[in-house]
Amino acid sequence: MFGGSWTQQKLEILSEYLRAYRLIFHKNPRARFFETSYVDAFAGTGEIPRRKLQGFFKDDPDMLKAEEEFRKGSVKRALEVEPPFHHYVFIEKDAGKCKELEALKKEFTNCDITIINEDANAALLNWCAELDTRKERAVVFLDPFGASVEWKVIAAIADTKAVDLWILFPYAAINRMLVSEGMPPKAWADRLTRIFGTDQWAKDFYSTSSWKSLIDPEKRVERTYKTADQEQITEFFMKRLKGKFAAVAKPGFLYNSKGLLFVLMFAAGNQKGAEAGVRIANHLMKRLGQ
Ligand SMILES: C[S@@+](CC[C@H](N)C(=O)[O-])C[C@H]1O[C@@H](n2cnc3c(N)ncnc32)[C@H](O)[C@@H]1O
Repeated sequence: MFGGSWTQQKLEILSEYLRAYRLIFHKNPRARFFETSYVDAFAGTGEIPRRKLQGFFKDDPDMLKAEEEFRKGSVKRALEVEPPFHHYVFIEKDAGKCKELEALKKEFTNCDITIINEDANAALLNWCAELDTRKERAVVFLDPFGASVEWKVIAAIADTKAVDLWILFPYAAINRMLVSEGMPPKAWADRLTRIFGTDQWAKDFYSTSSWKSLIDPEKRVERTYKTADQEQITEFFMKRLKGKFAAVAKPGFLYNSKGLLFVLMFAAGNQKGAEAGVRIANHLMKRLGQ
């Protein structure tokens, strides 16, 4: 369920990274030259939907305080970072959720907040094109429910050479499209190609065997099947990131009771900041299964 412990783990890692990032840019005289932005491209509302506290706990002040912290989504956690980012960009395609995001402007009056009610892929391509990389740096967080981020967007983010990217690779959603017997149907195959930015996945993830037909020895029978496992699928995407970004951290695996759901990944786009960024991310990722 959305709001479970893997959600908390990913959000705590993101918040700690954002705090460290802002401290570096605030304290380091050369880094202070840059304006920093936090871009949340699947922003939600700032609150995580969770069941209300029940029974004995519902009036306990400590439990209420802990629950309030648990409920904070990525947007709220980013707005609470001290010192704040110079700019916040929240992209959310649901108009109702954008209204809730608008209300945060009153709560965080010291923050410069832009809300974009649009598809994340389109909005991010525009945002990348407008970023002034001579004087701007940014952290982008991609937290989709499913497989909705296209590779061309990740490539555009990398090409800025000014952005640190946190992305939740939607392993379970992608693995569902990678059917076990035969190749995925065309619509899924096309989607997988847009997500990976190449059709090489088909060769790497599938094998074909053929043998003489028992019924008609003149004919051959062919069977195509998936050979890739969790590790190969994750590694394929990691390699794609490594090919575009200055450096990439070790991935962190987020499970629920049914298995692997997402893989949290971090990629640093700016050569100068990459070493520090990846060191911090690697340290934080140790909390997750690796
Ligand atoms: C997993 S939730 C994000 C949760 C958020 N990071 C948090 O911690 O509160 C994904 C959000 O992305 C939005 N969304 C889904 N597809 C989208 C798209 N193509 N573009 C922009 N937003 C989208 C959904 O409405 C949902 O609010």
